[in-house]
Amino acid sequence: MPVKPTHPAVSGPSVPPADPPSSAAPAASADALIPAEHLWPGRHSAVRIRTEIPGPRSRALRAAEAPFLAPGTQALSQLAGLALQSGEGARLHDVDGNTFIDWVAGIGVASIGHGHPALAQALAAQASQLTVGSFTTAPRVALLERLAAIAPHPRLHRTQLFSGGAEAVESALRLARCYSGRGDVLGFWGGFHGKTAGVLGLMGSEFKQGLGPLPPGSILAPYADCAHCPFGLAPTSCGLRCVDFAEQTLRMQSSSGLAAILVEPVQGTAGNIVPPPGWLPAIADLARRHRALLIVDEMISGLGRTGRMWGQQHEGVVGDIVTFGKGVAAGFPVSGLLSSDEIVAAKPWSQPSFSSSSFGGFPLAAAAANAVTQVIVEERLDERAAQVGASFLRQLSGLASKHAIVGAVRGRGLLLAIDLVAERGSPTPLAKSLCEEIFQRCLQRGLLTMAYSPRLRINPPLCITEAEVAEGVAILDTVLGEVSRLGSRQAG
Ligand SMILES: Cc1ncc(COP(=O)(O)O)c(C=O)c1O
Repeated sequence: MPVKPTHPAVSGPSVPPADPPSSAAPAASADALIPAEHLWPGRHSAVRIRTEIPGPRSRALRAAEAPFLAPGTQALSQLAGLALQSGEGARLHDVDGNTFIDWVAGIGVASIGHGHPALAQALAAQASQLTVGSFTTAPRVALLERLAAIAPHPRLHRTQLFSGGAEAVESALRLARCYSGRGDVLGFWGGFHGKTAGVLGLMGSEFKQGLGPLPPGSILAPYADCAHCPFGLAPTSCGLRCVDFAEQTLRMQSSSGLAAILVEPVQGTAGNIVPPPGWLPAIADLARRHRALLIVDEMISGLGRTGRMWGQQHEGVVGDIVTFGKGVAAGFPVSGLLSSDEIVAAKPWSQPSFSSSSFGGFPLAAAAANAVTQVIVEERLDERAAQVGASFLRQLSGLASKHAIVGAVRGRGLLLAIDLVAERGSPTPLAKSLCEEIFQRCLQRGLLTMAYSPRLRINPPLCITEAEVAEGVAILDTVLGEVSRLGSRQAG
């Protein structure tokens, strides 16, 4: 059964007025581009490109901002150079009247899509009543009840709320240390849990170099990134060598006892890496054998994104603590953790004011997350992600057989990825300059995607339509062909 769009376009002034075509500047490389309508003959296109990209208004706003904005903002926005005005569903409108299909969703944040009226109405209603404080409010009660109802297991019915992902993971680590009385935490290569000091040591990438010294107690072992197995083994015959290695690593490195293992069920920042069947249960078992808690970080994978409400459910694993954020409030900063009566009672975490924060579960945040989770549940966005994601994955796999620069294609639900490689069958990533070329060419045709990296991550709003998926794939297909030819010319 085809999946219908989940909500109507929001009408009103948020959609930028269309510039008359005559006033639009010509596209930067217009002669080299096939217009979006031609890529999508006879079909209604989601894309509207009226100016060069970025357009004159985007450029003017960015120039006005530049002297005041500190550097270090997200690479995506710097490379795109757009100033955005509004969005609806899986479409974004810039200030020049251009419309893009969004395969990024604020990196998995815009779960219910842009401009959803339920979120707008809930925020407006709450803002006119009460915005701050930690007192009980009706939306917070409704939110906590719903989170308990959708939690990966009924025993995880206790929630503490925060406002950022790193803050929630840090609190989960504090809770695990309070509960276990031990100090060490095992994380994984490729893992990402935020940029604050308490989680930086558990970041499994070079990103943290130059930011030390970091607090002690972080131990890292390889994740089951089978396409890049550090042992050179194949998932079909490796016997999960990486799990044995993690255990050995603990023996060699742990000095204050293992409090917890912190794991993403699908590694997002590393490239939407899906571990092989059996790996997550083996990690849960490792935690159990060490009497450590299993903290499952579902910041990206939670709330329906992988086609189930929680990423861990694909493997029948239940964490002792589950962290969530991003899509739970679709743009309002809300994060949290779920755990059991027994664990959250650990002291001093459970003492008054020990696990609270200024913005944790405050009335506006509660109203936003309550509205968004209601939409996710009622519109069954988890099932939708499974259905649309399966067809999306099939279409991406088609690109792999067509283009030599497309390596592995993977995904679960609407958490998908393509490895861009130097040549067919090669593990060498595609040159950064060619990746950026793909990104810019896609953008000029109306597709916003994270193609600037050879691990092209795809995580659109969960309400993306089949038509928007297909149109985006058609754009990417064309661009991959062009950039392959460009790459061959450069090599030759
Ligand atoms: C799995 C995971 N955990 C934690 C975080 C940190 O979240 P935040 O950026 O809200 O601090 C992220 C952010 O991308 C994430 O992907």
